[in-house]
Amino acid sequence: MKNIYSNILKNNNNNIGQVIKYLKKNHVIGIPTETVYGLAANAYSDIAVKKIYKLKKRPIKNPLIIHYSKIKDLSKDVEINKNFLKLYKKLCPGPITFVLNKKKSSKVSNLATAKLDTVAVRFPSHKIIKNILAKIKFPLAIPSANKSSSISPVTPYDVFDEFGKKVKIILNGGKCKIGIESTVVDLTNKIKILRPGIISPNIISKIIKLKVDITKKHKNIKAPGSLKKHYSPGIPMKLNQKKVTKNHAFIIFGKKYRETNHTFNLSKKSDLNEAARNLYKILRKIKNKKYKKIYVAKIPEKNIGIAINDRLKHASGK
Ligand code: TXA
Ligand code: MG
Repeated sequence: MKNIYSNILKNNNNNIGQVIKYLKKNHVIGIPTETVYGLAANAYSDIAVKKIYKLKKRPIKNPLIIHYSKIKDLSKDVEINKNFLKLYKKLCPGPITFVLNKKKSSKVSNLATAKLDTVAVRFPSHKIIKNILAKIKFPLAIPSANKSSSISPVTPYDVFDEFGKKVKIILNGGKCKIGIESTVVDLTNKIKILRPGIISPNIISKIIKLKVDITKKHKNIKAPGSLKKHYSPGIPMKLNQKKVTKNHAFIIFGKKYRETNHTFNLSKKSDLNEAARNLYKILRKIKNKKYKKIYVAKIPEKNIGIAINDRLKHASGK
């Protein structure tokens, strides 16, 4: 039988070699990170970056995160500051993205940064992407591997679900450990979190010894997820519900709800990290089951629960 997933490839030397060849030729590939799967391309090439925007149907005003392997590779591209160094030392590589001022000498494509004077940079910890970054001489622009406004992918099959064979290679790194995108923190001015993630304001605050707020406002761009619909299953969602009516899907958390064929439990043991890991998987499952409406139970607004509620709010178009 023909393998329909023939562009999903195992992580071995041969396939990594092929991926590197494609990246050097400015093609786009699908790649795992510890947060979600991404579409990767050479961040120094307008041609490569343009392909990402086209595939994702992403508005060109929404900039991309640039992924590096070592701090020393940043020096030409962005202005490094004290708070960045403190956070980098404690948290990198890992699920956090820093917005820094772009240098005049920066080689990062202007398309990737949506012509802003800042660059969002991240040092991912997943071993596959670390291995690839160590073998190339340019950083990678990597947005989540979903069509703009759709649900983020947490397995290679989700990437296939979004793009099929339009992406030449999707590297299989199994299921993402975190399952929700990196925390985005703006370090250019007053420190603020533009997108919540597993690294909470508290953790950041303790390291830099300053108060850190979560805000959706960014002076120049439509900040992360501020496009009204994002992470969306494309059907109406009602949040903070106690029970469900008719045969709608009901996303629940913990043990206090009656389970039926239409309930989807983010975490039976009320573990928020497990809930984050399951969130996009469950949203995609419900979307593919063709429900007409999704009800969602209340999720605790603490730790990574803040990021889960942020994604749910956007998914519901609020
Ligand atoms: O976990 C992640 O960050 C994943 C994995 C693949 O690394 N990537 C990801 O990228 O979530 P994306 O493109 O789906 O989301 C990046 C967000 C966008 O909402 C964008 O607005 C914001 O980061 N961003 C990028 N550059 C920025 C900048 N210069 N200033 C403020 N926000 C920026
Ligand atoms: Mg995204």
